Amino acid sequence: MWKFLREYIKTPNTIGAVAPSSRHLAAAMTAWIDFNKAKCIVEYGAGTGIFTREVCAKKRPGTVYIVIEQNDRFYSMLQKQFHGVPGVVLIHGDAGNVCNFLKKQGFSHADHIISGLPFTSLPEPVSRRILSQTQKAVGAKGVFTTFQYTLLRRQFLEEYFNIRKIVRIWRNLPPAYVLNMKLKCSESDINVTMNGPQAANSNNINCCWEGL
Ligand SMILES: C[S@@+](CC[C@H](N)C(=O)[O-])C[C@H]1O[C@@H](n2cnc3c(N)ncnc32)[C@H](O)[C@@H]1O
Repeated sequence: MWKFLREYIKTPNTIGAVAPSSRHLAAAMTAWIDFNKAKCIVEYGAGTGIFTREVCAKKRPGTVYIVIEQNDRFYSMLQKQFHGVPGVVLIHGDAGNVCNFLKKQGFSHADHIISGLPFTSLPEPVSRRILSQTQKAVGAKGVFTTFQYTLLRRQFLEEYFNIRKIVRIWRNLPPAYVLNMKLKCSESDINVTMNGPQAANSNNINCCWEGL
């Protein structure tokens, strides 16, 4: 708690919160992950590891879990907790490089990305780079889940993704919204990009048409 506050005072815009998230928020952030099927899960901005612990407790040992954290102190706290946990790949780096990190682990796409990043306070170009990389990283089939304390960035996020569900978690300080998103596409994208059932199964297409 105090470590978190200290990091917030040093760089408020990138930390974006004065305290770690609650276990209730952690449960909501991971509720949509299909742990039986997921081959690759990614987390952005793990902080002190509240979501990371939840995923590690639920994931299969063979599932690769790429955890990206930029802050030096938080990264070393993550290393102490998760170094050597089967399937966990800790990265001290920028979520904006997610596609490179996936590629290094032999994946073109992640099944699910969860994000603790403060899109409301990050500089806009930084958020835009992360979101456009995330579009590529989840591909047509993956799911992107993020939490935000307000819905001020809703329209901004909708430039990149279709928001499918929003859940309010009251038992967090402050209460938070959890947003479940999939790749955005228009009907014209489908007509132009899709070409028969094989295309529907391909993860290389740049839009999503399932359940929208
Ligand atoms: C609001 S905190 C969330 C921490 C944790 N997930 C939680 O819910 O308690 C945001 C985290 O994102 C990290 N962060 C900010 N920008 C980042 C970036 N570009 N790449 C990776 N991590 C970043 C910060 O260092 C911080 O740990």
